[in-house]
Amino acid sequence: MTSIVLWATMMAVAQEAHDWENPAVLGINKLPYHATLQLPSKEKACKEIVSLDGRWKFHWAKDPDARPADFYREDYDVSAWDEITVPGNWQMQGFGKPIYVNMQYPFHRDRPSVTGEPNKDWYAYDHRNPVGSYVTFIDVTKDMLSKNLILHFGGVHSAMYVWVNGRKVGYSQNSMSPAEFDITKYVREGRNKLAVEVYRWSDGSYLECQDMWRLSGIFRSVQLWVRPLVHIADYKVEAVPNADFSKFTVKAKIAVCNTGRKTAKNLLAQLQMACPELHGVNTNPSHHNVTNCRIPKLRAGDTITVELSFPYDSAPRLWSAEKPWLYPFSIELGDEHFDYHFGVKRVECVGEVLKFNSKNIKLRGVNRHDHHPVTGRYVDRDTYEQDIKLMKQANINFLRTSHYPDDPYLYELCDRWGIYVMDEANQESHGYGYANKVMGEDPDWKEAHVDRAVSLVQRDKNHPSVIFWSLGNEGGVGPNLKAMREAVVALDTIALPFCDTDRSQSDIYDDSYLTPERFASEARRITDRPFMMREYAHAMGNSVGNFQEYWDVIYADSSICGAAIWDWVDQGIASEKGFLYGGDFGDKPNDGPFCINGLIAPDRKPHPHYYEVQHVYQPLQFVREGDNIRIINHDCFTALEEYDYYYTLARNGEVAGGGLLNLKGDRIELPYYPDDNEVTITVEARLKKDQPWAKEGFAIAREQFILREYIYPWRVKSTDKVTAKNITIEGNSLTSWIIDGKEMLQAPLEPYFWKPENDNQHAARFAQRTAVWKNASDVTVNYTIIDERTIQVEMDYHPTGANKPVIPKFGMRMRLPADMTQIEYYGRGPWENYPDRKRSAFLGRYKMPLSEFETEYIHPQDNGCRTDVRWFNIANGKNALRVEGLQPLCIRAWDYGEEDLEGVGHPYEIQRGRFVNLNIDLNIHGVGGVDTWGQRTLPQYTIDGNQPYHYAFILSWKH
Ligand code: GAL
Ligand code: MG
Repeated sequence: MTSIVLWATMMAVAQEAHDWENPAVLGINKLPYHATLQLPSKEKACKEIVSLDGRWKFHWAKDPDARPADFYREDYDVSAWDEITVPGNWQMQGFGKPIYVNMQYPFHRDRPSVTGEPNKDWYAYDHRNPVGSYVTFIDVTKDMLSKNLILHFGGVHSAMYVWVNGRKVGYSQNSMSPAEFDITKYVREGRNKLAVEVYRWSDGSYLECQDMWRLSGIFRSVQLWVRPLVHIADYKVEAVPNADFSKFTVKAKIAVCNTGRKTAKNLLAQLQMACPELHGVNTNPSHHNVTNCRIPKLRAGDTITVELSFPYDSAPRLWSAEKPWLYPFSIELGDEHFDYHFGVKRVECVGEVLKFNSKNIKLRGVNRHDHHPVTGRYVDRDTYEQDIKLMKQANINFLRTSHYPDDPYLYELCDRWGIYVMDEANQESHGYGYANKVMGEDPDWKEAHVDRAVSLVQRDKNHPSVIFWSLGNEGGVGPNLKAMREAVVALDTIALPFCDTDRSQSDIYDDSYLTPERFASEARRITDRPFMMREYAHAMGNSVGNFQEYWDVIYADSSICGAAIWDWVDQGIASEKGFLYGGDFGDKPNDGPFCINGLIAPDRKPHPHYYEVQHVYQPLQFVREGDNIRIINHDCFTALEEYDYYYTLARNGEVAGGGLLNLKGDRIELPYYPDDNEVTITVEARLKKDQPWAKEGFAIAREQFILREYIYPWRVKSTDKVTAKNITIEGNSLTSWIIDGKEMLQAPLEPYFWKPENDNQHAARFAQRTAVWKNASDVTVNYTIIDERTIQVEMDYHPTGANKPVIPKFGMRMRLPADMTQIEYYGRGPWENYPDRKRSAFLGRYKMPLSEFETEYIHPQDNGCRTDVRWFNIANGKNALRVEGLQPLCIRAWDYGEEDLEGVGHPYEIQRGRFVNLNIDLNIHGVGGVDTWGQRTLPQYTIDGNQPYHYAFILSWKH
């Protein structure tokens, strides 16, 4: 009796289990994953591809019960429905809310269910699993009916059902990989109804818990492939060099399938290889190598894999990120013709050293999410090009596609322009904890893991740029990860398997967010394989301090193969007011601005720290040795002679000459320079030829040297007390200064040690730790009036008491009339720089409006500093205040005050324009550069509160 009851309840459960809440159902009638058959840039040349992108009919429902369950039927009228652009995310087109969360599941965690009851205030409470119903119509000609018709979805989040003409075709999840269905038998001549039902969440979502906007819908292109009945189902072309790279062999595996009803006879599969080309310029355009294979017979319904091999007797032109040599090839079978390219390379771990083409390369890396501020997870091709261009210009040579496969076009660009890629599987179960066993060990979830590894490698196996297959990010540990690795190495032996959570499954030992010091010691401790940080230098807000320190460590240890910054682009969403982040849509739960951690803004405008990365990542390092500059080349496949060396001399920041320099070996000789007040020389290595990502003359490396030091003004002795009627001094403060009958001080010049936090400092409890400095007064200020328009200011600090915390900044503050917005200065610039992030900002004379002097962070915070300032002018049309240091100064100027940044979430909330807030400092606390969850700024970039300080400057008013 009991067993019958039990059996009955089990049946009930089994009936209710949706495919999208069942980890055993990963797809229904889905075709096997395979390589991208045609290079994305050449899709237009492929007559098999019909794009279905465009405006589709669309209906959005807040949960499955509210969905129009029979909309797929031919007689269901969708004419009154909304429209949506495919590809695109529905939240970006006004349907439902985007949700930004980092580590947690935004629905009730109870695998495999995604519809349990979450907290009442969560978005998912009332929107248990939103469903998007899509309809479009496909025109099919008579001719097409004699072909094999395949529906291709580039990416759909998170799960979907597909119907054609009212008949169910299949189901798919695994949102970042293509899904294909054979729809031949469902179509007819004329108009055909394609219906797609997409679920926001599915059991697949348990493996898609990446730190990003959680967006839904058909977000990559949809295509109809009109294929010959007998066609190429898949191919893999690999080029393997011999031990000393003097020869190589091309090996191709081509899978041919017969989808027709008749046996196919006498087929010819052919591989045609062109000569190598660099940036589209072929060494010998008229020559090709051809190899082929006859298939005498292929029965209906069968697939056969033929293997071709072609030995080259000469040395290959090797592919590398520096020299991305490609061999274009085409694969043909009957009427079919696909264009692609291969590259010849070898990636290997030799002991604890990563070798690429037998060289100890260094991966100057960045992590990138596929994000666009307007279209979300759909990224158009121009944006891809802009991203890769900006990366190349920043000397980035390594990209981790965190945390899933991107659109195939990205990989083509990396192949062509030269970027090493860590291609990452769409696998993260962070909601169960980093390196969890829950998902890593559960056999019910093994296939779901493996599916994500297989889809990754199958699609991208022919891209020369891929050097690592990453099994995912912040997922589980255990047999499921082991199975993923096994699946990867069974499919490809050229790129190396990588895993962050389960180190036993990784060829590279990985860690993340270590300080430079720990990075060095951990890399020494680990001796069985190469070491890297897949994520470091958390670039959130005003950050990326101590970046050179990391690279001093990396260059000093051959077992460290590199590191990748977190991350490339701020994941802000565009609105009329400005960029939005987590919580701005009323999305709950959310992680606020934690998605704003890029080197560039959402609209691809570089942040100041982008330039610091560009500088530290430059392949050439310039070292002054007497009258020479020695050049260290960190690249492996590029000679110093491949650049022009150019110099610019400046006197007191003004350009006084320049020209080409001769390279002798690894040295360039300094040109003649005058014996003068400050003289600087800036040397640049410039491109001799246009590259796809930069024009001839673009500087890939720069350095500045001071040849003669700046002579600061002498201190004026303050013995004879001069007074002036227009100047009022009260204690330590200069309270009034009337110039041409007008009060120029909106707030006094007075000692001020406070500065608002940046994101890194907030997490490190900076404000609490340094709170005593908000109202400190352990200083004496001495004003020496030189004349009515000139005052010398000196400030002295002698610590009283012990154990003072670090000083946020040492200096003074004043407020000037709001119209004083024209700035010119001699110091480091032009972009924002701080003591721990100033190597890219060279000394010079810079002129800019106040609005450019400030940096507008999406999450407002301290900003805009310029260090090593010799003098600084700030003016309106009539008057100019000049600040001259008696030693270098740090200056920040804003059109708002420190208090205006308190509690403000977006630039549009800042109250501006009442005055100009000017901080004139001896020094300021560094921005920090390790992480945004507690690590402090390195001690050498902080101001010890237990030391005495003195500084001075002269203020003068000019017309
Ligand atoms: C990493 C994680 C990233 C991101 C980052 C913090 O640990 O892999 O996805 O969350 O932390 O911004
Ligand atoms: Mg995570």
